[in-house]
Amino acid sequence: MVEQTIATSDEAAAKVQRKAGLEGVVAATTAISNVDGQAGRLVYRGYDIHDLAHSTTFEEIAYLLWFGHLPTRTELDGLRANLLAERTLPDSILSLLRGLPAETAPMDALRTVISAWGMYSQIEGTPTIEQALALTARFPLILTTFHRFRQGLEPLESRSDLGYTANYLYLLTGQEPKPEHVTSLDAYLVMLADHNMNASTFTARIVASTSSDLVSAVVAAIGALKGPLHGGAADKAQEMLEAIGTTENAEPWIRATLTSGGRLMGFGHRAYKTTDPRAEELREMALQADPERFVFARRVEELAVAILAEIKPGRRLYTNVDFYSAVLLNSVGIPVDLFTPTFGVARIAGWTAHILEQAGDNRLIRPLAEYTGATYAVFVPLDER
Ligand code: ACO
Repeated sequence: MVEQTIATSDEAAAKVQRKAGLEGVVAATTAISNVDGQAGRLVYRGYDIHDLAHSTTFEEIAYLLWFGHLPTRTELDGLRANLLAERTLPDSILSLLRGLPAETAPMDALRTVISAWGMYSQIEGTPTIEQALALTARFPLILTTFHRFRQGLEPLESRSDLGYTANYLYLLTGQEPKPEHVTSLDAYLVMLADHNMNASTFTARIVASTSSDLVSAVVAAIGALKGPLHGGAADKAQEMLEAIGTTENAEPWIRATLTSGGRLMGFGHRAYKTTDPRAEELREMALQADPERFVFARRVEELAVAILAEIKPGRRLYTNVDFYSAVLLNSVGIPVDLFTPTFGVARIAGWTAHILEQAGDNRLIRPLAEYTGATYAVFVPLDER
């Protein structure tokens, strides 16, 4: 971690600290979720992720993040009915989706179409829970419609008998979703729904702090999630597993990657200095979902952690959420380039909860930058340069 005391000419800020990547800097207060990186513990409003992962649905977690408590049966039914009522896309959005080139990167499609939806829907002003709900309901619709069009297929009608997760799988594949796939994907969405001040959530909060609208904050967050150091790592982890190919090739591949300065996707985390608790859950689920693939992935994981400890001693690099996400999402039939957008289908709940929290007790987020340019430059008019 780079830490430095900077002298400025401002008396009031005579001593300020710079921390590269804002590591360890507390940038907000939140009551939504907490990460204890030393203990490997993640809580949503006090509830341990291990308790929530297999015993709640995505809708329950969205309710928890938005409203602060787990819903009663009546409250949950109300939320489901509201989400159901929002499962529509206007013709303007369908036309836009139909016109996108088939080779458009899905995260670019998501970012573009969410932005357009905000414009057509005239989303403006102080963010509201109704806007959060309307946007959350449309994330799966936009992605699956894009996916169907790019395959030359017509989009399917949402099914009112299916919940958020099952309907996403149905719209994607056109098949009756298998109960075990729905259970696995629901647990994934629950675990990925929020994660304290991760890069995309911070981005969303910065935009919200300018009193901008909810869709603008979400569009910015999608841009941050796309990067391979954040949400873009799951498909890269899948590519890594494919490139390794065999158990025999794992050790030489990992060593060659690390000695040439490369990174192992799905390993290391800014907050966790032990195994990510979501990776522990996903490891178990991957074993159930795809035992053959699991054996290979587990061997790669063991080697990766051991070789990282040897080549990068003291950095405490362990498995993060994205490594087994790749195995799990693959096992339920999500195409590789929809891994990161599917992360978004979960994280929209957390982003919007944070946007609402920021807007509810706002102060503009506006940090400083250490200036490293010239102190005094002599101006020369254009014609004399
Ligand atoms: N593979 C190889 N080396 C690594 C890895 C990795 N996956 N992660 C960190 N390191 C090394 C760095 O090279 C660096 O080594 P050095 O001290 O010799 O320079 C040291 O560990 C510290 O790395 P930083 O980049 O400073 O650590 P930071 O906290 O900024 O990184 C990050 C966190 C970006 C997640 C990093 O671990 C990484 O790039 N991982 C791979 C991508 C990934 O899996 N991202 C998903 C994260 S989870 C999520 O966002 C959902």
